[in-house]
Amino acid sequence: MSITQEYIDQNKDKFLEELFELLRIPSVSTDSSKKEEIQKAANFLLRQLKDLNLDTVKLYDTPGNPIVYAEHCPHKDRPTVLIYGHYDVQPSDPDELWDTPAFEPTVKNGLIYARGASDDKGQAFTHVKAVESFVKTGQEIPVNVKFVLEGEEEIGSPNLVPFLEEHEDLLSCDMVLISDTAMFAEDQPSITYGLRGLAYMEVEVVGPNRDLHSGVFGGAVENPANVLCEIIAKLKDEDGIIQIPGFYDKVVPLTKADREAFAQLPFDEKEYKKTLDIEAVHGEKGYSTLERASARPTLDVNGIWGGYQKEGAKTVLPSKANAKVSMRLVPDQDPKEIARLFKEHVESLAPDTVKVTVTEHHGGHPSVTDLDFYGLKAGAKAFEDVYDKDVLFSREGGSIPIVADFKRVLGVESILMGFGLTSNAIHSPNENFAIKDFHRGIKTSARFLELLPEYSS
Ligand code: BES
Ligand code: MN
Ligand code: MN
Repeated sequence: MSITQEYIDQNKDKFLEELFELLRIPSVSTDSSKKEEIQKAANFLLRQLKDLNLDTVKLYDTPGNPIVYAEHCPHKDRPTVLIYGHYDVQPSDPDELWDTPAFEPTVKNGLIYARGASDDKGQAFTHVKAVESFVKTGQEIPVNVKFVLEGEEEIGSPNLVPFLEEHEDLLSCDMVLISDTAMFAEDQPSITYGLRGLAYMEVEVVGPNRDLHSGVFGGAVENPANVLCEIIAKLKDEDGIIQIPGFYDKVVPLTKADREAFAQLPFDEKEYKKTLDIEAVHGEKGYSTLERASARPTLDVNGIWGGYQKEGAKTVLPSKANAKVSMRLVPDQDPKEIARLFKEHVESLAPDTVKVTVTEHHGGHPSVTDLDFYGLKAGAKAFEDVYDKDVLFSREGGSIPIVADFKRVLGVESILMGFGLTSNAIHSPNENFAIKDFHRGIKTSARFLELLPEYSS
């Protein structure tokens, strides 16, 4: 075993303690009252990186949350890897559904329970520790490295995109390395080569100027909640096909080879249903569950409200009703264009008895990585060396919009080397990350940096 890998084994507990320190900071980016915590998390990472004798380590302030930046680029003839991750996390609520407090990391059965354990503090931290394992054993880091750790991923990276555009030279690199996805299954390493994009909309339907008695006015005055349901019901047909005109125009159809690759992945639908407690799967006619969940576009209500929701039966006709609707997008759909098509279509479905307003939240482009890129091959070999198992290549349904921006602005591919699992409950109560995956993640990252020079020549 190399001295790097030995160092990682010997420092397993120290690494864990350090990760816990980061996990104790509730750096929730959606919550404006958590600005101090955001700063604390950024400073923690800054201190971590400052301890590694890199050439540059600094915070870039933005109109929002700071970007932690570091670089060490001594090699003229070797590739430069930009390591991206995010230190912001989703809110912990509903807190009452957590078995242990969200910001008090707790280990149970080999799993670290905490908000951000997998998404993305635990995963991003693997690379910091991988770099440390070269530096602290007196070795040169085998390739040039740059770190970009942001604090606004969960709110759509509003300030990272301009940061990329303004610092093209600073950020120039040969590839981006990201651990913010999941492995195909436990002990089954995989590299994600496709992510979906996102368009996120809000619909408000307003009727009479106040809530009305549903007996006195019901039947004669339009009910905004009924209208909202009717509009939503018209957005998909019975085969799960989205009915917004133009929605599929730019969708790149799956090729025969794509579909064969999906069919060959070791997916167990029975197990999938069992873990979710559902009798049957559901989705677009003609596609498999894996295809539906990662390579086909979707339209889903994320939240819907209006009218009386407390105890008992209050007979009321609500004056307004609202819904939040997300659409996951695939290449080459454009989030802005899809948002516009959604808005036009929903407005066209509105009867003149109510006022319908459609607004747009943040979105992002889908992405696919070129499977022939040498970085993916080095990544696959690193995984194989550490996990002792062949790597699968898969697409995932989640979104990391900045991946498309890295490609557009810096012209580089991203290697999505996820160490998480679908069972990590990211964004949910009881988020977790296996200690063994944290540990193997550090080893895989270090191995990757070690292997890369030979793959690039
Ligand atoms: N790490 C996730 C994305 C992810 C999770 C990709 C699992 C693949 C597998 C990321 O932090 C995230 O939650 N992204 C958001 C989008 C963002 C614009 C708020 C998402 O996918 O909802
Ligand atoms: Mn993430
Ligand atoms: Mn997330």
